[in-house]
Amino acid sequence: MAKLFQVYLNKESKILDVCCGFGILSQKLMDNGFENITAFDVSYNLTEIFKGICAERYSEISINIECENYERFFQNLDFKKDKGYNIISNPPYEMEHMIPFFQNLYNVMEEDNIAVILIPKGFINKERPKQLKDITSKFKILHSEDMKVKFERTGVNAEILVLTI
Ligand SMILES: C[S@@+](CC[C@H](N)C(=O)[O-])C[C@H]1O[C@@H](n2cnc3c(N)ncnc32)[C@H](O)[C@@H]1O
Repeated sequence: MAKLFQVYLNKESKILDVCCGFGILSQKLMDNGFENITAFDVSYNLTEIFKGICAERYSEISINIECENYERFFQNLDFKKDKGYNIISNPPYEMEHMIPFFQNLYNVMEEDNIAVILIPKGFINKERPKQLKDITSKFKILHSEDMKVKFERTGVNAEILVLTI
């Protein structure tokens, strides 16, 4: 994923790390000079670990890390003004999460933004449920590549997608 960040994003890009955990993806960006990053995750423990890592290794970067669930995080944004985000994410991939995930991405992205996401292979092309298809069909796939290793917990095959709207 880190290589794709370099190809599709520039250092000034406004980045949103959705469901950041302890920030594996954001750390790759900061290692490569990215500074304009907002990250959030529902887990207090993980966001605190991430804040600790930032204080230790990235003290010169003022990343914004929030402990928040994405329903509330996106509800608090004003989509008329608060847009223009490029997304990086390895989200929870149960269906109940994925439909609002794509809907919220669509709301915060503009046409020149991209999303680099790691999700189960083939998920983006699912025909059912209709609500999922209705939202995923609004995205264009710029690039896809299979992950060599499966998701650790579930053994599901995964792919990295670069999307735009
Ligand atoms: C598959 S992990 C990915 C973590 C991180 N992005 C990474 O690449 O290591 C999914 C993350 O989603 C978070 N999560 C689950 N449900 C969430 C929700 N409703 N709102 C925000 N984050 C959530 C979990 O705490 C977990 O850190």
